[in-house]
Amino acid sequence: MHNVVLISGDGIGPEITKSVRTIIDSVNVDINWIEARAGEGVYNETGNPLPDETLEAIKKHRIALKGPLTTPVGAGFRSINVALRQKFDLYSNIRPAKSVPNVNSNFKNVDMVLFRENTQGLYIGKEHWVDKEEKHAESIAVVTEDASKKIITAAFEYAKNNNRKKVTLVHKANILKLTTGLFLKVGKEVSKNYPEIEFQDLIVDNMAMQMVINPQQFDVIVTTNLFGDILSDLASGLIGGLGVTGAANIGDDAAMFEAVHGSAPDIAGKGLANPIAMLFSALMMLDYLGEKKASERIRSAVYAVLLDHKELCTKDIGGNGTTESFTNAVCNILKD
Ligand code: NAI
Ligand code: MG
Repeated sequence: MHNVVLISGDGIGPEITKSVRTIIDSVNVDINWIEARAGEGVYNETGNPLPDETLEAIKKHRIALKGPLTTPVGAGFRSINVALRQKFDLYSNIRPAKSVPNVNSNFKNVDMVLFRENTQGLYIGKEHWVDKEEKHAESIAVVTEDASKKIITAAFEYAKNNNRKKVTLVHKANILKLTTGLFLKVGKEVSKNYPEIEFQDLIVDNMAMQMVINPQQFDVIVTTNLFGDILSDLASGLIGGLGVTGAANIGDDAAMFEAVHGSAPDIAGKGLANPIAMLFSALMMLDYLGEKKASERIRSAVYAVLLDHKELCTKDIGGNGTTESFTNAVCNILKD
């Protein structure tokens, strides 16, 4: 039996979490879900967006599946997603973008996996006012050799173990010579240990253009935190949007699985949320737990619904259904 901490989250979180849990519970894999809370909902009730019980549960069980959490813009509490990644040193944020059958997008045959450094960079949100009038702000980016080595090695190891041919490191070392320069330097060193894998480095602005001109040229991508945040949404857009891209946050002794997208307040509570992204994150979790058979079965069932019952899928990917109709359709196939 696998103990998994389940955080349903804010906005569309509860709807998609319910769907994912129903689908996973309908296959033969023994998961003990331990429900815990985090985010805006629990903050509004208790004044604490990340209760100690939740931290304790993740510390104990080491595996979490998490719905999206709302982070206030501009002011208010800091991102709980970022806090969790830092707290458990979940340094690899792995975000695959693989074309999905029968989902409209501008590109076909996209199959890239983005490794985003998850604990440092500009994303740490270390900011301060320079003046009392609050008209001059500064932000600090942190890059260390150790953390760079860990994420870049993780990307190369993934490439090696999954028969991938190329690793592209993305940086801005022409301008941010110390921080992303260090990341690039470490990348060049690590790449020497993997002579069978092609190593390429690209400056982030060029990378953004290359990704929309010819996305099929990319295989494994590794980059710093903020660039990875932006490029992974771009990568989602190449394969049909945020509704279909799963992700994993993995460290040496804990892992948390969550979709790339956020809490989508614009569609929350309406049955419009696409659960596929969170479901694909959960399939990455099943793989991580060694339940590859179960994850393959569920993925095939999702593909079958996309191909044969598109009308039951959610509107964001061209269907005419709801979170629930999609969930039922997948469960029906899994029943047979
Ligand atoms: P978002 O990802 O929530 O939404 C962007 C757009 O994509 C919206 O139009 C939304 O309706 C659509 N969308 C997203 N997921 C969808 C799904 N599963 N099915 C159908 N449509 C979907 O990004 P936004 O609006 O910038 O952020 C909303 C909140 O989420 C913010 O508070 C933000 O901080 C938080 N957030 C949390 C993340 C996390 O928990 N890991 C990640 C990204 C944002
Ligand atoms: Mg993001």
